[in-house]
Amino acid sequence: MKLGVIGLGFVGLSLASVLGSKGYKVSGFDSDKSKLNAIKNGIPPFYEPELEYTLKAALRKGFDTTHDLAKIINNCELIFITVGTPQQDDGSIDLSMIKSVASQSGSLLRDTKNKPIIIVKSTVVPGTTQNILLPILEKRSRKSANKDFAVVTNPEFLRESMAIADTKNPHVVVLGGTEGKFMDTVKRFYQKLHKNTPIIVTNSQTAEIIKYANNSFLATKISFINQISNMCQSIPGANVEDVAKTIGLDPRIGPLFLNAGPGYGGSCLPKDVKAMINFSNKIGIKPVLLDAVETVNRYQLENLLSTIKKATGKLKGKKITILGTAFKPDTDDIRDSVSIKLIEILLKHQATISVHDPKAIENTRSIFEDRVEYFDSINDALRGSECAVIMTSWKDYTRINNEHIKQMKRKVIVDTRRMLKKSKINARYFPIGIGLSGSF
Ligand code: UDX
Repeated sequence: MKLGVIGLGFVGLSLASVLGSKGYKVSGFDSDKSKLNAIKNGIPPFYEPELEYTLKAALRKGFDTTHDLAKIINNCELIFITVGTPQQDDGSIDLSMIKSVASQSGSLLRDTKNKPIIIVKSTVVPGTTQNILLPILEKRSRKSANKDFAVVTNPEFLRESMAIADTKNPHVVVLGGTEGKFMDTVKRFYQKLHKNTPIIVTNSQTAEIIKYANNSFLATKISFINQISNMCQSIPGANVEDVAKTIGLDPRIGPLFLNAGPGYGGSCLPKDVKAMINFSNKIGIKPVLLDAVETVNRYQLENLLSTIKKATGKLKGKKITILGTAFKPDTDDIRDSVSIKLIEILLKHQATISVHDPKAIENTRSIFEDRVEYFDSINDALRGSECAVIMTSWKDYTRINNEHIKQMKRKVIVDTRRMLKKSKINARYFPIGIGLSGSF
């Protein structure tokens, strides 16, 4: 069985690499030639643990890349579409890339004997496959879905920094579309690939909303604990860690996604919650809860800024060190990272910023250029600093000790991830979510 992957970003490249490394015949298409070149040489265009190793294994087993979409449409039985669906200024989803892929693929389908199954992995709002992509494909190809080709919606739930592990072992496979021989082929493919993973077969619009419901629920959990965290911070001695640990023991709640922090960021949760809000308004359902989830997330940054001001006083002219710009550890991704937003605000307040991140310095530099200073070592980043703000829970930061801290001009640490032990460090320590001693 020959497989095609259209769009070699996080999802597409992880999928192609895992399938290729398992011995499937995979062809990957991307419109960006320089990206294709790097991939062909075994160099992933972004940092993701285990990806380089898996990609190289796939290349050794014959994973090939192409700039010619016809090769995919003419030869592959299953074609995964994994192009980006970014957000527009009003929060709505930008379908231009996936529509363009559908349109080009449709034109190519017209002249082929191949009857492929097109599997939509990109995140799209409910109704997109049925009302937009299928009609484009049928019109361009002048052929009929479920006879000459098929479309199956198959949302992806992988996490950055865990992309390879999640691609190998997803918690669920969701297939949306029409039941029949095409759907049976996809089901068999996944049953063989993931022997112990539940497979949910439904229609495409339900598959599409499942993805948004999943990410919106995760965002809701984070905003919930952040709200509790803010309360704890204002109750002398209260500790959000103990709250999260304890409520997480209730099986109805569960322990995951209860880490209070500076708010959720990244390429998915902020974009998907916004798209869900926009979509909900469009279909006449007031998104009261998701509006609140977003508001809490936005306030989290304001609350952090107040904590920094409380810890340091006036910001103008102060040297502040930001520890971590990646939106989470083990990635170089800074898309929608709260840390980047914080730096922008601190610069507006005329603070001087030094930055450390184990992987994301290059991406951070592309945004701030010479407006901030970049350091490879924590010690250098802290030298002469008047306040350090831990933003990303990189393991390296758990090792910060008095040797590092003695580099600072004023020993003040704001910790959005509660990674240090107050009793072990010689600094004024402001962990978010923990009430300072004193009285109400
Ligand atoms: C998310 C979903 O988890 C994944 O299923 C989907 O396919 C893509 O979006 P990802 O963006 O890689 O994955 O990161 P995730 O681990 O979910 O973290 C997102 C943000 O939430 C990060 O900014 C992280 O710091 C924050 N977060 C997460 C918290 O603040 N607290 C938590 O308890 C968990």
